[in-house]
Order: sequence, then C-alpha cells, then structure tokens
Amino acid sequence: MLDNSRPIEILSSPARTLGAVPIDSLALAPMEGVTDEIVREIFAELGAVDYVVTEFIRVSGEVLPPKLLLRECPELRTRCLLGATLVHLQLLGGDPGRVATTARLAHELGAPAIDLNFGCPAPTVNRHDGGATLLKAPERVLAVTRAVRDALPSSATLSAKVRLGWDDPDAIVEIARAVEEGGASMLTVHGRTRAQGYAPPADWARIGRARESVAIPVVANGDIDTPEALARCHRESGCTRFMLGRGALARPELFRLARGVDHEYWPTHSRLALVIEYIDRCLARGPGRERLALARSKQWLKALATADDDARVVFDALKRHEDVTALREGVASAIEARAERGAKTALRATNGP
Ligand SMILES: Cc1cc2nc3c(=O)[nH]c(=O)nc-3n(C[C@H](O)[C@H](O)[C@H](O)COP(=O)(O)O)c2cc1C
Repeated sequence: MLDNSRPIEILSSPARTLGAVPIDSLALAPMEGVTDEIVREIFAELGAVDYVVTEFIRVSGEVLPPKLLLRECPELRTRCLLGATLVHLQLLGGDPGRVATTARLAHELGAPAIDLNFGCPAPTVNRHDGGATLLKAPERVLAVTRAVRDALPSSATLSAKVRLGWDDPDAIVEIARAVEEGGASMLTVHGRTRAQGYAPPADWARIGRARESVAIPVVANGDIDTPEALARCHRESGCTRFMLGRGALARPELFRLARGVDHEYWPTHSRLALVIEYIDRCLARGPGRERLALARSKQWLKALATADDDARVVFDALKRHEDVTALREGVASAIEARAERGAKTALRATNGP
C-alpha cells in the first residue's frame, strides 16, 4: 500500500473548485522516461486526478504489434482503468493511415481513450516526421486526427495534445481548429512553441485564445506547479481543465491540494515515501530491473529537490549511489530521521518548550 506514514483518505467527492476556480478535470501529464506505469499507478492511488496519459508511443515505420502496445500500456489489460482513474493511451506519428490502424488496434485491446501527440520537440522524433513537426502544417494535424477519428467507433474518446505552434505562437488558433475539425473531442495545449522549448514561462493567455476559437474543451498545460499557479492559469486562460507534469512530480500532493483533499503541502518525508514505493513496485515487477529502479528513483528525487530544500539535501547525499538497495536504505533513513524530527516538534508544541 501507499505511503504508510500518512493516511490516504477515500475520495468520495473531491472538490470541484479551488477557491473560486472551477475545476472540471485534472490530469497527470505524459512524460516520456518519467511517467511509466508505476508512476501512473501511484498518482492514481493518491487520488484527486481524473486521468493520466501514457508516455508517447511512436508509430513510425509500421503499425505497432499488440505486444508493444501492451508493454507500453499494461493498463490495457484492465481496460485502462487504475481504480477510478482512466489511462489515456497516447500515440505519436505523422502517417494518418498507420496511426489510425494502430489507434484502432489499441482501442480493440482495451483503450477507451486515445490521445494524439503533436507537441513532442525532440529532434529525432521531429526528423522522423512526428510530434511538433506537424504543427508547421495544421492540415497535417487535421489529416491525422480525422483518420484516427474515422478508424475508431464513436464510443471511443479522441483527444490531441499540442504546443502553441512550431515557432509562431499565434498559429495555435489554426491548430486548435484543425484538431476540432478532425473530430477530436478535447484538446490539451502546452503554452509554448516548439522553438521556445521549455524556456520562457508558459503563455496561458494564448491557451485562452485557443479555448475561444473552438467549441471542444481545452485543457491548459505548462508551469502549473502550485495551487496559486493553477488559479492564475485559470484567470489568464479561462480554462477549467488542467494538466500538470513537472509540478506534480515535484509536489506529488498537488492534485490533492487543488481538490481540497489536503490543505497543506506535505512534509519532505511523505514525499520521499513515494520514492520508496516506486523502488519496491519496480523491483517487484520482475528480475533485472535494478538499474531502471535506480535511475528512475534518482530522477524522482531530483524532481522533489526542485521544490523542496530538504529533499535537495537528501538528493545531494544520495545521488552518487550506484546500487538501488543502498539508495533505498538511504531514502528510508532520511524518512525515519525526518518523521522522528516531526514527532519531536509536535511534542514540543503540545508540551511547551
Ligand atoms: C521529460 C519529459 C517528457 C515528456 N514526454 C511527453 C510525452 O511523452 N508526451 C507528451 O505529450 N508530452 C510530453 N512532455 C510534455 C509534458 O506533457 C508537458 O506538456 C510539459 O512538461 C509542460 O507541462 P508542465 O510544466 O506541467 O511539466 C514531456 C515533458 C518532459 C519534461
């Protein structure tokens, strides 16, 4: 079970507002090499997230075999449900026919919701005609979206995830209309162009321009890393649907804060407990996973360090470990020391100095 250092409440009715901000949906952003099935599972169990998205699955030379889809999205075996949380399966590719056939196969294997990636900025991906490169020609976005929509039964949900444009942020209006015309029923916009990479702050106002240009729901994405940022994003974009990536990794309680399940940021030891959870689940999935568990857990520790000075101390102390068992022990001792410290502080508060 998850984080035994703090109780996880059952979410009977998570709040649909954050202060005055209406929240129609909250999603965990897909992050290739980060949000694998274990991370998705942990966030689903933490609750307060409506859906998660798989890392992109690239359709390049040929239609993907079922084995590969099942490897990238093991949740297909449970009809893409992690408890009450839906897993959207994300495909990336520039060939309408091949992406459409793969989407139909994914749907037949158990995916009720397919997401199309038109935002990936990676040069190798773009060189092979995938991701953000399609934003240069919105008619190509339309062609892929329409082919996939036509290949899926009407019961299947289709969405797309885009950046503002390749290098012109005003391209978003035409891109959003292409996605809608292609038949998608939801659009996620990361508020940056491909050329901007991750550098300047996300442009939430331009996400608002996209929202005003189409009738389908628009999900705002980019730099939503605190409840206050979410409220600002709402004010600037008018959106009521939000997708959180790096901010959620750094503050895993972010969804719970946004939904009013928790009211305070978690202490460091509660966040660290998720890293232990990750290691244990990763190693439990079979032999030969030590290197992966080591790399991914260090990566998560590093992400925690971006929002938490105390987690930075732990990361700095442990980052050179080359053995996952030693790393796990280091994290466990750090948790114990901090939990004890917390208990002593609480005791002082009750008993006086
Ligand atoms: C390491 C990493 C991997 C990513 N992989 C994907 C991906 O597979 N599919 C996708 O649509 N976006 C991907 N993204 C983009 C994120 O989903 C998101 O749009 C971006 O990080 C901005 O949101 P954030 O500021 O909340 O992190 C990735 C981002 C990062 C940092």
